[in-house]
This record gives sequence, structure tokens and C-alpha cells, in this order.
Amino acid sequence: MALTAAQRHWPDSLRREDGTLAIDGVRLDSLADRFGTPLYVVDVATVRRRVLAYRSALRRSYPGGSAVHYAAKAYLSTPMASLLTSLGCGFDLSSFGEATIVRAGGCSLGSSHLHGNAKSDDEIRRSLEAGIGSIVIDNRPEVGRVAAIAADLGLAASVLVRVTPDIEAETHAHIMTGQRDSKFGVPLDDLDDVGAAIARSPSLDFTGLHFHLGSQLGSPQAYARAIDVVSGAAASLRRHHGLETRVLSPGGGLGIAYAGGDELPSITEFIHAVATATVTSAAVHGLDLPKLIVEPGRSIVGPAVVALYRVMGSKTLSTNSRIIHVDGGMGDNLRPALYGAKLDAAIVGNGATRDTETVDIAGRFCESGDIICRRVRLPTPSVGDLVAIPAAGAYTVSMASNYNGALRPAVVAVDEGRALVWQRRESYADLIARDVTTIRAGR
Ligand SMILES: Cc1ncc(COP(=O)(O)O)c(C=O)c1O
Repeated sequence: MALTAAQRHWPDSLRREDGTLAIDGVRLDSLADRFGTPLYVVDVATVRRRVLAYRSALRRSYPGGSAVHYAAKAYLSTPMASLLTSLGCGFDLSSFGEATIVRAGGCSLGSSHLHGNAKSDDEIRRSLEAGIGSIVIDNRPEVGRVAAIAADLGLAASVLVRVTPDIEAETHAHIMTGQRDSKFGVPLDDLDDVGAAIARSPSLDFTGLHFHLGSQLGSPQAYARAIDVVSGAAASLRRHHGLETRVLSPGGGLGIAYAGGDELPSITEFIHAVATATVTSAAVHGLDLPKLIVEPGRSIVGPAVVALYRVMGSKTLSTNSRIIHVDGGMGDNLRPALYGAKLDAAIVGNGATRDTETVDIAGRFCESGDIICRRVRLPTPSVGDLVAIPAAGAYTVSMASNYNGALRPAVVAVDEGRALVWQRRESYADLIARDVTTIRAGR
């Protein structure tokens, strides 16, 4: 059975076949039996389509050069890095750790940016040695640090400056970043000083400006305002310091549907708005069209992944409603506990013939806040059922922890009807692999 409009928060290739959910013809119950639960299943076709949607929207809407840098923090593994490179993406990296994974996937760092508000000298040095495309300078003291390391290596390091445009986009406070007192970026008032310092540094090659407003944004409106502000800043850097903004990187942030009925702009609509604002603002401020580099994470990988959990038990509350206990939770899907994210759910097996019930789905972790879904209507779940959570690709596995000694789940990708393990489940041996000191207990 094909998906309806109300089910667009599920991967493109998800269908119910003979009553059971399947991705690209591969039944989710057979994957859970083979690989265990919790399990993250990636629909590769969805990732591909979404990257290509970004690339073709940029080509159609923007007359200048453009590129898509995947925001690795959303989800990264070596196979994911290889897939994205094959689709023409560079990477937005938040650490040299992410750079290491990208390189292990056989990808060069030449079209990637190193971000971060507290990069270590070691990360800056290693990134430059590895041929990183650009370092994104986040604050005034970082100018001198990057300049010194680049000079020591005998390089002129390409740098972008992250500006804080003083614009609040509508999203949860934990994932808003463009406001005046955000911890990220150079405030507009300090940009002149930063520009002067870069212009004086022979080991720095100013390439452009970056900003990011936040994540899970429901409208591109704030982008249009921010692009105008940042283009004004670019004009001022050129006027006062001769610094040419050849690259404009308006970050990522496009939101995704997490439940039926969530209305969000499409990738095409979002890029059209960003591209139009860039062209208009360049004309207003007398700038050449910059290369436009977007950095989507969530909107590429989020809808492509389903998390699978097994029902382990249940409990009836004093209100007569039930809590269903599953074998994963905040250790692999932190967003509901961290910032109250609302998730949908479905029963994988032949639930269509059962009565339905409104339940909460509780994770297995030792925190009362570990409730994965609240008030979801499902065919009455019982022990042994598999529960599928949609839109599970972004900021889930990448934020996973070993809290409570949990083993981080496997990630399996389905591509053209074949299932491939991208990341194996952790073992109990992995849990103790880093512990190097043995203290003899008891005598
Ligand atoms: C600098 C930067 N670029 C891109 C992104 C990706 O955002 P999203 O996953 O919402 O597209 C983030 C995430 O917060 C970010 O901090």
C-alpha cells in the first residue's frame, strides 16, 4: 500500500506489504529478527532523492555557483560519507573526529568546512594538514590561533567568518543559533575588528561569510532577513578591508515533518527563497554573486530513517491509559527527552485488524523523562510487537550514548531491495574496551 500525504514523515520507499511495513521490499520484521532491536533502518533512496532535490533546486533557482555540504552532525558513518560524496556533497564538520570518519569513507576534505566555537589547536592543525576546504572562524581569538597554525605550516588557510546576524528564527531555544547572544559566531558589532585582523594576516585567505539560524525551522522567512543583514556586512568588509565575500554559506536548518499533518516548506521552496534573497541582497549591496553553499543535515537524513523497537512490557496508569515499554529510548533517540520533540509511531506487523488504543511509549532508560512518544494511537500493542518510529535519521544515532550500559544500535541501510549493515550493534566488549586500569576489588 502506497503512503498517503499524511504519512510523508516516513521514508519514500516505505510500504505496508501483506500488512507488514517494508522499505524497498525489505520487511522490517525480518530486519529486526536478523539484526536485533533497537535498530535504525536507512532508506538510501530517500537520502539520494533529497540530496538531488537540493542540488537541482540550487541549479534552477540560483544563477551563481553553488554546493551542498551535508551537516555531518545529523548522522555520520563511513558508508554515509561515501554515499554523500558519490552524490556530490561536501561536508559541514563540527570536529576533526567527524573529519576522520569522512576520510575513512574514502572522501577528501577539500570541499568541506571545519566549524566549531571551541576548536582545539590540534583539530585546526590536523584539518589544515589534511587539506580542509575552509576553516570557519567563530570568534575573535580564533583569528590569531588559526593564523599562527597556518603560518607554522606555511599555508594561506582559506577562512570563512561565522557571523551572528541577530535574528531569532522560530524554533526550540536549544536549537536556535542566530540570536545576538548565541554562543556561536561573531556579533555584527565585532565583525570589523575580526575583518581587520584577517586582512592583516598573510597566512589567512578570507573566502566568505557563514551564518546559521537554527535547526528544524518551519519557514525560510528569517533567512531572507539574515541574508540581507549578512550581505550588508559583506559590503562593509569589502569597503573597509578589501575582503571579498566569494562564498556565502547560510547554514542548514530546514525542518522536517515528524508527524502526519506537519506542514513544512519543500526543499525546492526553501532553496528558492534562499537563492532569491541572495540574488536580491547582492544587487542591493553591490556585491558580485557569491558561491552559495548550503549545509542541510536533518532535511537530508531525517526522513530517510526508521527506528525499530521491540515491546517488552506495559503498565496501566490510574487514568486507565497504558504506557508501553520498549527496548530503546533516550540512549539512542534523545530528542524527546532533550527538547520535548514529538514523534509518531506505527506497529510494524499486521496491526490493521486490531482495535486501536492511545498509548505513551516509554524508553528503557532510568529517567522518568525517557518517554519516546506521548499519546500516539496504535493498534493495541502487545509484548513482542515491533514499533517503528519515523523521521529517526537526524540527531538520534549521532547523539547516542552508552547511558545505563546500553549498547548503541546497529544501522542497516536498504538500497534497491538489499539490506547492508552500515554500523554493527555495539557489543559488551565495546563497553569496556576503553577502560585501561584494573583496581582489585575486595580482598
Ligand atoms: C553550522 C551548522 N550548519 C548546519 C547545521 C545543520 O542543521 P540542520 O540539521 O537543521 O539542517 C547545523 C546544525 O545545527 C549547524 O550548526
